[in-house]
Amino acid sequence: MDPRDLSSHSPYVPGRGVEEVARDLGLDPDELIKLSSNENPHGASPDAVDAIRAHAAGISVYPKASHADLTDRLAEKWDVTTDQVWLSPGADGSIDYLSRAMLEPDDRILVPDPGFAYYAMSARYHHGEVATYPLARDSDFDQTAEGVLSAYDGERVVYVTSPHNPSGSVMSLPEVRALADATGPETLVVVDEAYGEFADEESAVSLLADRDDVAVLRTFSKAYGLAGLRIGYAIVPEAWADAYARVNTPFAASELACRAALAALDDDEHVETSIETARWAREYIAAELDADTYESAGNFVLAEVGDAGTVAEAAQREGVIIRDCTSFGLPSCVRISTGTREGTREAVATLNDVLADLELGVHA
Ligand SMILES: Cc1ncc(COP(=O)(O)O)c(C=O)c1O
Repeated sequence: MDPRDLSSHSPYVPGRGVEEVARDLGLDPDELIKLSSNENPHGASPDAVDAIRAHAAGISVYPKASHADLTDRLAEKWDVTTDQVWLSPGADGSIDYLSRAMLEPDDRILVPDPGFAYYAMSARYHHGEVATYPLARDSDFDQTAEGVLSAYDGERVVYVTSPHNPSGSVMSLPEVRALADATGPETLVVVDEAYGEFADEESAVSLLADRDDVAVLRTFSKAYGLAGLRIGYAIVPEAWADAYARVNTPFAASELACRAALAALDDDEHVETSIETARWAREYIAAELDADTYESAGNFVLAEVGDAGTVAEAAQREGVIIRDCTSFGLPSCVRISTGTREGTREAVATLNDVLADLELGVHA
């Protein structure tokens, strides 16, 4: 027997891992600088690691108290009710929960192109259809309500990624409000703020105080450095918040993920250092890389390098792993995650050597 027809489903293409690349190249993983998955170069909050150790023996029990504690803590942080906080395995899990809650078969979603692949994947798993709105490189991937509305045709869910992956552009809060005002009453605008901590924009969570057609995604994977734990959440409108109980996978977030997230939320020093480093590094990359870059509000920078596949491969041979953006439909671009100060300097120097060599035909 076969699974259902999955021909319209494309597999997610993650950035390559250090161990995988080290094995391929016969190198020590410690010699590599991985800047391909927008992870936190400072690692996890040390308090989160301590919390995992302290609660390790508790993993034989389903997570109830920790789930409730984290939900309470996030509700307090965002000034929303606990029902409005939907914990999930990563922000990806929240995308699935929103698909489950919103989509009837054949309902359509509207997503940015280029953009984060999982919105479309999740909609298709849930028998939905996908339409796209363009973000144009010649306007620096500028995000406006008008740009989204030019492609809008009554879709059930409209995704806005702010800061946008892979370009780093943002949609301002007034533009998000204008978009939600202009879309139909049965359209949910989902603002994905996976990289929100690195930006200067106010979160779209504030819009939920007086409207029921906006939801916001946040994650502990980036600024909090907990990508390996898979913990994120959605903040949803109060009006239909009780849908969570009907759509979530039981015990949506693990015991250790909840404990670590609680500890990370209280570790201001770690998150502030992480944000400060990302802001420094994105400026440094823009100033020092010998390639055109796009202004970024995230912990990564998109750069125009000619043939992205060749550049990413050559950089990898020199020990720097970056993201070839061909899978985003941008074959001339690479995305470079921000590293530590030392790692970023080293990576930019290596990339500049690679770009210079390619210009001279050395790696051709
Ligand atoms: C724009 C965007 N949204 C959501 C996610 C998912 O993050 P996670 O599932 O790790 O919370 C990512 C991950 O890279 C992302 O780039």
